[in-house]
Amino acid sequence: MVILGIETSCDETAAAIVENGQKVLSNVVASSVDLHAAYGGVVPEIAARSHIESIIPVIQEALKDAKTDWNQIDAIGVTYGPGLLGSLLIGVMTANTLAIAKEKPLYGVNHVEAHVYGAFLGSDQPAFPLLALIISGGHTQLVLFKNHFDYQVLGQTGDDAIGEAFDKVAKMLGLPYPGGPAISELAKKGDQNAFSFPTAKMQNPYDFSFSGLKTAVLRTAQQLAGKDYTLPSTDLPGLLNNRQKADIAASFQECALKTVVNGFNKAAAQYSPASLVVAGGVAASPRLREMLASEVSLPLFIPDFSFCTDNAAMVASNAYYQASLGRPPADPYKLEADPSLSMLSPY
Ligand code: KG4
Ligand code: ZN
Repeated sequence: MVILGIETSCDETAAAIVENGQKVLSNVVASSVDLHAAYGGVVPEIAARSHIESIIPVIQEALKDAKTDWNQIDAIGVTYGPGLLGSLLIGVMTANTLAIAKEKPLYGVNHVEAHVYGAFLGSDQPAFPLLALIISGGHTQLVLFKNHFDYQVLGQTGDDAIGEAFDKVAKMLGLPYPGGPAISELAKKGDQNAFSFPTAKMQNPYDFSFSGLKTAVLRTAQQLAGKDYTLPSTDLPGLLNNRQKADIAASFQECALKTVVNGFNKAAAQYSPASLVVAGGVAASPRLREMLASEVSLPLFIPDFSFCTDNAAMVASNAYYQASLGRPPADPYKLEADPSLSMLSPY
């Protein structure tokens, strides 16, 4: 079964062709990240406008790269939430229209769930029950999958997502957006024990919180700059030296990553899953991969770098499993974008 996946939930316009949920025939991603960098974060209107410009060429390129034509496409999968409304609308309306015009079954895909399907892209498949840690710019969740589409959210963040914390700390240090890769690089030059940042204690041991950590980093940086809490964070990059910035990056990264790795390990000990999956943009972190390699003994699946950050191959894979398990396709006249689509009450 050959599926065209379409993903436009944030600032990446993506299309991919995937065979049987596993074999990626093409994977095209056009990002508007450079346009957002000047603003230090994603500007929804810019993202939506750039999806409009890119979506058709990106789909055409995905078909061309896979040496496929529409006759060989069996179904379409599209992210319909969660995400930015204006961005989701472009993908959903394009997919609805193509499903009608080309007479293809259409599957609506939950973006956060799809991140886990990045781990199914390959010949080696994770076994159920599967414990997934989904860490991205928009989400931080621990989810126990008993089977495909049969899961329980064990915990999630009560405030910022972990990737968002990386992006905000990066901004304080004058690093470019998105902050994760820049913090990773700078942290290599710093001392991870230079500062001891706090970890939030949550009632549910699988919930997370990153806003306290972000504030602690801000206060430490203000002190190092010789100022009090009234100093605007935008003044920090000019007042901190390179050594101080690298030490903050390393200590923050260690604390943030330890928080999610500890929750993951605790859940693995309690639920004894058959496999572990770490997915989402933050799973690209080399330091996280190092920590997991030394601490985790169960079979661990981390998607290839290009399938960690937003892409449409993971969307096509999710749609394949929906189709192969006999779930009914969506009505292309009715499928709508749902910016706050949740994982809390699946199907
Ligand atoms: O999954 P993704 O591409 O988009 C969302 O669905 O949010 O994740 C993007 C996030 C950004 O916050 C970015 O800073 C973070 O992933 N990220 C990283 C690294 N590479 C990307 N965070 C930490 N370390 C990295 N190396
Ligand atoms: Zn994502």
